[in-house]
Amino acid sequence: MAKSLRIWRLFRRAAAILLVQASAWAQPAPLALRPPMGWNPWNHFRHAVNDKLIRETADAMVASGMRDAGYRYVILDGGWEGGRDAEGNIFADPARFPDMKALGEYMHSKGLKFGIYSSPGRTICDGSEPGSFGHEEQDARTFASWGVDYLKYDVCGGEATYLKLEAKNPQLAHAYMLGLYTKMHRALEETGRPIVYSICQYGLDAVWRWAPEAGGNLWRTTSDIHDNYTSMSLNGFTQAGLARFAGPGHWNDPDMLEIGNGGMKPAEYETQMSLWSIEAAPLIAGNDLRHMDEQTRAILLNREVIAVDQDPLGREGDRVRTEGPLELWMKPLQDGSRAVAIFNRGRSAMDFRFSFREVGFHGKVRVRDLWLHQDLGIMSSDDTVHVAKHGVVMLRMWRAR
Ligand code: GLA
Repeated sequence: MAKSLRIWRLFRRAAAILLVQASAWAQPAPLALRPPMGWNPWNHFRHAVNDKLIRETADAMVASGMRDAGYRYVILDGGWEGGRDAEGNIFADPARFPDMKALGEYMHSKGLKFGIYSSPGRTICDGSEPGSFGHEEQDARTFASWGVDYLKYDVCGGEATYLKLEAKNPQLAHAYMLGLYTKMHRALEETGRPIVYSICQYGLDAVWRWAPEAGGNLWRTTSDIHDNYTSMSLNGFTQAGLARFAGPGHWNDPDMLEIGNGGMKPAEYETQMSLWSIEAAPLIAGNDLRHMDEQTRAILLNREVIAVDQDPLGREGDRVRTEGPLELWMKPLQDGSRAVAIFNRGRSAMDFRFSFREVGFHGKVRVRDLWLHQDLGIMSSDDTVHVAKHGVVMLRMWRAR
């Protein structure tokens, strides 16, 4: 009797384990556990894109070492669209993109991922090319059949309706926006293909509060970035306070990188790379990868800074304090160390003194400079750093024994 009871219990336990395992198998694999990294033509090429450029960029991504440093998604922005056929299927402009499936296959053959762009509106931003409104399931299926791994979904064509609603009834406007984004997310899920979902609606309606509910893996928190310090720093520094909304699978996105596009000084591009990494922001390069100078390469490929962005703990860093034009930011990392960045938003170089307590250490710390690639040794209570105009000093600190 006792023996059959034991067997029965064993059988029940095995069945329970199987059930848990089966439900884990049924769940879609989690996406974007780390902030997505990749490239998008918009910041440099606007709509002047074609199959040749995208393939050459993919080649450059591999040859430059960017793919191996983590930049994986090659994402088309608006401008690839050709129209819809009689059955409502969206197609690419045949003169510039003769075969989207082949393009997707090319990306995959290079160990890269293929991203695409659409809008929940009737059109994309320029008002002439089709958006996905009313064709969500159909477009999601088309994208999946092309091997798409990432969708940037830009409200654009739907923005005017949202703004009109918002002026009259913010609750209705919220329901409209949430509805638009949820609909495409469901459609993507239905395809059965894992597709990273990038919500792009410029931070309207405090998107960080509801984007995960709409299935977003990342969401733009700001309006469009431009290749100058004022625009970049506005997008970057206004992320302060948003850290609690981000985590593995769901990230705040202050827009793409301008590094290498020529409008800023190297110190300013280092600021963008550091600030985005402290913020665990997506790192989507936006320059011409086929023609990069050494400085651009060194910034985009700084593996120590990338490691801060991609840290598996997945915590977004935040501002600790400001002092005049100087800002102290800190991001906790998985191994117990901390990334610390001191930014100078002022018009001349300045010194900044901070204590290790305010970045979470009591006692001695081991310090490494992530732009100089140098160990600075063991320090005991505070440090003074010299920060160039519009520049940054970025450190990684470990508790020292
Ligand atoms: C919006 C987006 C940009 C880019 C353009 C394309 O402005 O915010 O990132 O996609 O549309 O038209």
